[in-house]
Amino acid sequence: MLITHTITKNVFLFLGIVCVLISSSIEAKVDNDYWLLPIPLQGDAPKTNHPVTHDISPKSCALCHKKQADEWKDSYHAKAASPGLIGQLHYFDQDSAESCLSCHTPRSEQIKDWQDQTLKFKATGIDCASCHLRQHQRYGAKTKITPVHGTVQAKPLFKKADFCSRCHQFTEGRGLKLAGSFLENTHQEWQESTWSQQGKTCQSCHMPNGSHAFKGIHDANMTRTAFTIQAVREATGFSLSLSNQFAGHALPTYATPRIVITLTSADQQKTHIIQRQLILDDQQNLQQKADTRLQAGETIKLFLPLKPQQQASASIRVEPDHFYQQIIYPYFLEDNDDSELEPEEKQARQLLLKAKQVKNDYTLYAIQCPRWQQKNYHCTLSPQPPKGEPMPLPNANST
Ligand code: HEC
Ligand code: HEC
Ligand code: HEC
Ligand code: HEC
Ligand code: HEC
Repeated sequence: MLITHTITKNVFLFLGIVCVLISSSIEAKVDNDYWLLPIPLQGDAPKTNHPVTHDISPKSCALCHKKQADEWKDSYHAKAASPGLIGQLHYFDQDSAESCLSCHTPRSEQIKDWQDQTLKFKATGIDCASCHLRQHQRYGAKTKITPVHGTVQAKPLFKKADFCSRCHQFTEGRGLKLAGSFLENTHQEWQESTWSQQGKTCQSCHMPNGSHAFKGIHDANMTRTAFTIQAVREATGFSLSLSNQFAGHALPTYATPRIVITLTSADQQKTHIIQRQLILDDQQNLQQKADTRLQAGETIKLFLPLKPQQQASASIRVEPDHFYQQIIYPYFLEDNDDSELEPEEKQARQLLLKAKQVKNDYTLYAIQCPRWQQKNYHCTLSPQPPKGEPMPLPNANST
């Protein structure tokens, strides 16, 4: 019991992060009226809508919008009511928990379900109705007259980055800032990049051809498209450069993912971490230790000195859930004896344990570099980078 008590206290202190978030749900000032969170109850469907369309669950939309539904169901929006989220809610008071839910399961109908069932809660995450319905009126990029659910109204917002920023960008008084920048800062990173000037929105990259898969760092091929990479065997060693040429924000944009680059030869190993690195200090406050993410357009260059006859290899590993799996979930799960816990807390711990064990890590590239043979060589990348031709070789090193 004593142990439980201490942990609850620690968790409470850790909630400093959440307290900053709470104000989000109360605060009414929003970037636009469309994204008032949580989204108010839809109320009754108009009688003129076909009865089939009164049900606003994704299953119902899927009857007629199969393409979008099939793509969406494997997206992280569909999975936003994850075990890692629901498990944590047990440790928060009602207001804080509802603040989390207002982004992860944003419709008031969903939050009401949670209030009724708490840990047994099964929600559809950020679903079709979250983005397309207000008071049963459907909105989209274009106006469409439909025989089943009335006229779909066009909203220019659907084509703008602002559509995504209510959840993907913290603002003053709404969300934690560390070392001068918001923990979630995607819209601002995008704004400061050349992509915003070129008119490339979040949708241009994340919804190509109207795709609803919302692919991001959990998808190896999507992440490969973000980089240009050059791995070269030079006379004096192995040089590896990586550029964030095609992500419209920092790579990665969030503090959760970690990218680990390891260069290896027979007698040495070099490791480089790409991450916004956060730690919990002695007072259980979140601190930023370092920020080694690649800003939009930024290049890093690593070098492993080698003798001419030496070979080298490298791996680039992506751990999309690193911060949660290595710091937050272990923190909630730390040295507790399950046999002494209330059934509710046991269930919460099972969810967190499940979230901790999910294996989403992948190898972005494995690289093999030959021994020196009179001129600079491109090392072998596996798989092949998606953008065809490798970057040009640097001038041959004559030493
Ligand atoms: C019974 C069939 C049916 C159901 C169920 C249904 N829709 Fe539709 N929807 C249609 C039809 C038909 C159109 C018009 C399509 C067209 O003209 O290309 C349409 C059009 C739309 C459009 C505009 C599409 C465009 O091309 O611009 C949106 C957005 C939309 N529906 C959203 C939804 C959402 C969200 C749901 C679930 C809450 C839903 N619909 C449920 C039949 C349905
Ligand atoms: C302002 C909207 C917002 C609020 C409020 C919010 N989140 Fe999130 N959360 C996000 C977004 C957006 C992501 C994905 C970020 C990214 O990948 O860039 C995310 C990611 C996560 C993830 C990682 C998903 C996974 O399973 O790997 C967890 C867990 C999570 N949030 C839990 C919480 C908890 C707990 C709270 C309340 C303390 C909370 N969130 C409040 C928007 C929000
Ligand atoms: C995170 C927000 C979001 C979610 C969730 C979402 N949509 Fe969309 N949807 C959009 C945006 C934004 C567009 C406009 C895309 C564009 O034109 O670039 C769109 C476009 C559409 C269109 C119009 C066709 C087109 O390609 O323009 C239909 C139909 C549609 N969505 C149905 C659905 C259905 C059905 C679901 C659930 C399975 C769903 N949407 C989930 C944001 C969302
Ligand atoms: C209602 C809040 C909300 C809105 C609006 C929203 N998102 Fe998200 N998004 C989230 C949350 C929460 C997550 C994290 C879910 C999780 O991992 O549990 C997320 C995750 C993602 C991911 C991460 C996928 C990965 O591999 O980690 C991408 C990409 C994304 N969103 C793109 C978009 C785009 C593009 C838009 C606008 C068209 C948008 N989102 C609008 C809340 C939102
Ligand atoms: C020029 C293309 C491009 C634009 C514009 C863009 N993204 Fe991305 N985004 C990517 C690529 C590629 C990845 C995968 C690599 C990575 O994680 O950075 C990604 C990853 C993500 C992720 C995964 C989580 C993470 O930590 O990286 C989220 C969330 C996301 N984008 C949201 C957005 C939002 C919101 C916008 C608009 C403000 C946006 N993106 C604009 C290309 C783009």
